[in-house]
Amino acid sequence: MKKHILFVIIILTVIIFIYFSSFKNNTEVENLSEGKEVTKEDYIYKDQLLDLGYNINEIKVIQKKVNNITAKKYLLSKKYANVTKFLYSPYFNINNIERYENYYKNNPNYSIDDIVMYVEIGLDNEFYTNVNEIDNYLDVTALVNKYNKLPDNVTYDDLVTLDTNYSNDGKKQLRSEAYDATIDMIEAAKRENIKLTVISAYRTSEYQNTLFNNSVNKNGLDHALMYSAKSNYSEHQLGLAVDFNSVDVNFDQTEEFKWLKNNAYKYGFILRYPKDKEFITGYSYEPWHYRYLGIDIATKIYKENITYEEYIVKFSKKTYQ
Ligand code: DAL
Ligand code: ZN
Repeated sequence: MKKHILFVIIILTVIIFIYFSSFKNNTEVENLSEGKEVTKEDYIYKDQLLDLGYNINEIKVIQKKVNNITAKKYLLSKKYANVTKFLYSPYFNINNIERYENYYKNNPNYSIDDIVMYVEIGLDNEFYTNVNEIDNYLDVTALVNKYNKLPDNVTYDDLVTLDTNYSNDGKKQLRSEAYDATIDMIEAAKRENIKLTVISAYRTSEYQNTLFNNSVNKNGLDHALMYSAKSNYSEHQLGLAVDFNSVDVNFDQTEEFKWLKNNAYKYGFILRYPKDKEFITGYSYEPWHYRYLGIDIATKIYKENITYEEYIVKFSKKTYQ
């Protein structure tokens, strides 16, 4: 008799277990929309995502992270192997999912966040390819690099000349906001017995072309590409970049450099081509080259120890999912 009771209890337990397991699977699907109203599209896409080979957990992540229906449709063209990892990156942009996948395939040792960051910067393209012509060159925040060039024949009506107290030949020019910041900075340095002299500032496209060609003739193309921008690709043409004292990598051993490193941001300047960031900026370390961006942005870049390219992805690019 006792045996029979035990048997019934076991059977009942198994039945109850099976019942609740199947109930859990159903609610897993029901819960996909996590409190949001379940729209018809959610369900259509869910089936299509299942057909593409996504499992229920991946679909859950997509459901949770991709809020925009149009963006969600984007995922329906094929199965992206790592999309659910990329979706957790704060810089994720659904339009670039294919590029993330390809870049990850070629760089499997990079972190997911780095993959997304570097693709957003454009590093999955060779330098000087996939180039965008900027139209905001009058903005203090304009980005010029090996993926973002100036249009031809840009002119500025607020260039100001630095006299011989501030520049080596009394002829260097900057746009007025950068000029004021440069004077403030040089004067502040002087009060601490640091002598800063501007040796290069605004350049025309013709002059940049001459400099680049001279560099190629003197040191060869590979070297020139690491130290000199091609015409229309130099931020000196923005009138917002300054070279101080000496175009020599040993400048970073000087007191003047140390002062700039610790203080330039207070006047709105960043060290634009830092050491160990060559693969992002596309240029060798240039301890003499500073870019004016305004105090707020320069301070953020200094404190975060990032490049302007990284700053843009982190703080000013609109990411949308
Ligand atoms: N030396 C920097 C990269 C320029 O030519 O603008
Ligand atoms: Zn420079």
